[in-house]
Parts: sequence; structure tokens; C-alpha cells
Amino acid sequence: MKAFFLGGGNMGAAIVGGLVAKGFAAGDLTVADPSAPVREQLARAYGVRAIAPPGSWPEADVAVLAVKPQQMREAVRALGNPPASLLVVTIAAGIRVADLARWLGGHAAIVRAMPNTPALVRCGITGLFAPGDVGPEARERAATLLGAVGDTVWLDRESDLDVVTAISGSGPAYVFYLMESLEAAGREMGLAPGPARKLALQTFVGAATLAQLRGEDPAVLRAQVTSPGGTTERALAEMDRGGLKSVFIAAVKAARERSAELGDAFGED
Ligand SMILES: NC(=O)c1ccc[n+]([C@@H]2O[C@H](COP(=O)([O-])OP(=O)(O)OC[C@H]3O[C@@H](n4cnc5c(N)ncnc54)[C@H](OP(=O)(O)O)[C@@H]3O)[C@@H](O)[C@H]2O)c1
Repeated sequence: MKAFFLGGGNMGAAIVGGLVAKGFAAGDLTVADPSAPVREQLARAYGVRAIAPPGSWPEADVAVLAVKPQQMREAVRALGNPPASLLVVTIAAGIRVADLARWLGGHAAIVRAMPNTPALVRCGITGLFAPGDVGPEARERAATLLGAVGDTVWLDRESDLDVVTAISGSGPAYVFYLMESLEAAGREMGLAPGPARKLALQTFVGAATLAQLRGEDPAVLRAQVTSPGGTTERALAEMDRGGLKSVFIAAVKAARERSAELGDAFGED
């Protein structure tokens, strides 16, 4: 599979690096980026062909669009209309299939992907959506590409990608917020900064690993740590009194609303 990447920034480089690490032939990967230092770094680190943005679509089976959403329309219009056989995979947040298809002169073979920042360390989760006329082989190709930086999940409706954005796209920030809060609690109760951070960080790593390896419902795992009359029960009661769960769910819904608003704004011609 020959792949062309438009944009070799954080995400483009992460996917390219993941593919090479998984054994994809570097010679089959071409990355276009306007920045010479970015191109040099990509060529040096992964041995891929790194070029300035070209005036037409280079020969490839798949094109991954990894430019910023605000850059997308101009970036793809500069390449002209792609060949009908090219599978276009966009990872840009908020750019809808219909808008991209219009900018690509009515192109049909488009898959939308929403990865998250843990992709940078190949522990990402990517939501994928393809319109009904994109066949199984093309879907498989898109999942293989994004699978180089973590796990993938297919969604039935394009609007579900706004939910993905709110859950796993923004999700790492929620986790960091909780991590910060746990660390701050440790500091307020007299721990030195080093131990407070280490305890908070490793608690997240350990709990996430336990949940993943056991595969059990988080509510069951939580109950297992919550002895009647114990410390965890006291803390959770305090969280419930403050309405933490409903605040959290309302916050994630607000992120979903914002994602939909941004989709409307990016799609304006
Ligand atoms: N980072 C994330 O966690 C994340 C998560 C989900 C989705 N995404 C999506 O992934 C996309 C890339 O994000 P990122 O964080 O990787 O951004 P980034 O680091 O800014 O990478 C974008 C790259 O594209 C380059 N570029 C600009 N115009 C171009 C053109 N015409 N042709 C080729 N390359 C061009 C940029 O160069 P200049 O800097 O010189 O403009 C930059 O190197 C975005 O659409 C974002 O919504 C990112």
C-alpha cells in the first residue's frame, strides 16, 4: 500500500512513525510538509520521502490528510481533484465528509478518522466513519493506517464523531485534570511535590492497566476498592454530594456541542 501524507506535523509524523515501526516499507510512504526542518526530521527519523506540498496528488493508494482543519480547504484545493481510485483519509477534527468531498471536486472515497494525542506514543484510540459507498477493503486500509498508533473503533453515523471528539479526543485533558487534582490534594495534605506527582500519575497508569487487563466493568472494579465504612466510600460520598458525575457528563456534552459548532464553521465556503 502506497500512502501519501499531507502534513507531517505531530499527528502525521506519529502515524508515519507507527507504520514504519510496524514494518511498512518506508519507500512506500511520502509526506508533504511546507517546513524544511520538518521534512528533514521525517526523512532522517523514518527514511520516508519528504517533499514540499506538490501541485497535484502524488501516485498513491491512500492519502492521509493531516493538516490543521483551518488549513484543509486551501491545502487540498492546491492539489486539484484526486483520481477517483484514491482513498482519502482525513484526520482533521471537525471537517465533514460532504465539505471535504466538495473541496475535492465531488470525490467519493473518503474516510474520516478522529485520533487522540496518546497516538503520539502509539496508545491512541481512533474513531472512524465512512459513508455507505466506501467498501470493506478501503475501510480495512483506513483502519490499518490508524491502527499504527493505537486501537480503532468504527462509528455508524458521522455525527458520532462529535461524541468521539468529546470523549476520547478531549478525554486526555479530562484525565490530566483529574491527575492534577489528585496531585494537588496530595500537596495540600503535606506531601512533597515529587511523591505527590508520582502517586497521582502511577495511580492512573495502574488503574487503567488493571481495567484493560481485567476487562471488567469499571463500576465493578470501583466497588472492589470500596469497602463499607472505609476511606474510598467516604471520598466517593463526597464526590456524589458535589454532583461530580453529573457535572462531568454535562461537561462532555458541552464538548460535543462545541465539536458540532466547529464542524459548521469549518464547512463554510
Ligand atoms: N494532535 C491531536 O491530538 C489531534 C487529534 C485528533 C485529530 N487531530 C487532527 O490532526 C490534524 C493535524 O494536527 P497536528 O496536531 O498534527 O497539527 P500540526 O502539528 O500543526 O501539523 C500540521 C502540519 O501540516 C503542515 N501544513 C500546513 N499546510 C500544509 C499544506 N498545504 N500541505 C502540507 N502540509 C501542510 C503544517 O505546517 P506549518 O506548521 O508550517 O503550517 C504542519 O507541519 C489536525 O487537523 C487535527 O485536527 C489532531
